[in-house]
Amino acid sequence: MKKVITYGSYDHLHQGHINLLKRAKELGDFLIVGVTSENFDIIRGKINTDQSLIERMKAVEDLGIADLVIPEEYEGQKIDDIKRYGVDIFAIGSDWTGYFDYLKEYCTVTYLPRTEGISSTMLRSKNVLRIGIAGSDPSMLKLKRESKFVNGCAVNDIYLTNKFDKVINDLNKVNSFDDLLKNNDAIYLACKTSEKYDYAMRAMREGKHLIIDTPIADSYEKANEILNYAEEHNLKVFDSIKTAYALAFERLILLVKAGKIGSVSSIDATCTSLEMYDWLKDTNFATSFTAWGPFGLLPVFKILGLNYTDYRFDTIDNSEMKDIFTKLTLRYPNAVANVNVGVGVKSESDLRICGTKGFIYIPSPWWKTDYFEMRFEDAQNNKRYFYKLDGEGIRMELVEFIHSVIKDRPNFNIERDITLGIAKMIENYNNK
Ligand code: CTP
Repeated sequence: MKKVITYGSYDHLHQGHINLLKRAKELGDFLIVGVTSENFDIIRGKINTDQSLIERMKAVEDLGIADLVIPEEYEGQKIDDIKRYGVDIFAIGSDWTGYFDYLKEYCTVTYLPRTEGISSTMLRSKNVLRIGIAGSDPSMLKLKRESKFVNGCAVNDIYLTNKFDKVINDLNKVNSFDDLLKNNDAIYLACKTSEKYDYAMRAMREGKHLIIDTPIADSYEKANEILNYAEEHNLKVFDSIKTAYALAFERLILLVKAGKIGSVSSIDATCTSLEMYDWLKDTNFATSFTAWGPFGLLPVFKILGLNYTDYRFDTIDNSEMKDIFTKLTLRYPNAVANVNVGVGVKSESDLRICGTKGFIYIPSPWWKTDYFEMRFEDAQNNKRYFYKLDGEGIRMELVEFIHSVIKDRPNFNIERDITLGIAKMIENYNNK
């Protein structure tokens, strides 16, 4: 019996897929179809299929052409599958010509003609979410870069809320915030924290969803109003802390919650950077604490919660800038947390979560988490974890945002009370 194998995402199954599967089947007696899982698609840079793996596998099965449908979950799996199933022919569309020649060592490799004029991308593109950028924080330009890896969104327009020195090549500069609102479905807001509330309310009154660079406002009350308005009008507001979308960070929180290091007694989160942007010298825009504080607070609030009993700020100023370093200590009934942040000051920017059985260590720069270690008294029990992180977390944040808007589901990565807790701490800092 001649066995044939082929692979694909099969998102919104279409005639091109059907033609290819029929051609592949004709090459032999038994057809195996590998359907790529979401995680594997991310590795391939083909992020955000509309349909889940289960839906896509079911659609292929229902056609009745394939004899066996399997998920494709890891790099190198094709070689394993070919050996395991005794495959004679590997077949794939001509858009991949040459790419899979390395499999010739294991079986015959055939590139089949592709059907012109149809693709999953075309079918998905009907639902493109247009996201406009408003702000003057240089990091906002990363959104355009990362959006190219994500299906279902387009980032084309930018409105500069303040003076901006960086060159903008690949975005269309619009002259007013109203123009930005007119041509977009959602807004990414990266302006001065003190201005966020006004821009956010203006955008939401026009029915726009929002991603707001953290913190979403400089007081609890304003943040609460933004979130309430969004909920009442069925709009999505994402507090943009990219760390929350890093798979390694998500997994380490789950390990802590599952009690793997016992009861948590202390958390030390340090975030420092030497790069001193001019805009950081403008304390209306940001200080070390407003720039970095939310990142440090994220693991603290996720793990220890918001019921701290006391807090204390220690801030160091220098002649150039207010707040080049801040140490925030949060006291909980059974734990203590230190958030150390600095701009223009350098330290080892790591994260330590200490428990009664062991501790978790994430090396610098921990907010771009892709690796962490769980360490115990007996070193033989130590474990290391690695999860690939693409685009500093921004890519996955975009995927979550699009799903949240299209599928009308909440933000699972940053809960409402954490966003409010962060805004509250920014308010405490400003009032200190
Ligand atoms: N295919 C084809 N003709 C098309 C589209 C896809 O023959 N018009 C083939 C591909 O070459 C591949 C298989 O179908 O062998 C699965 O491809 P997949 O990547 O799932 O489909 P696309 O429509 O190309 O997806 P996308 O637009 O996301 O790239």
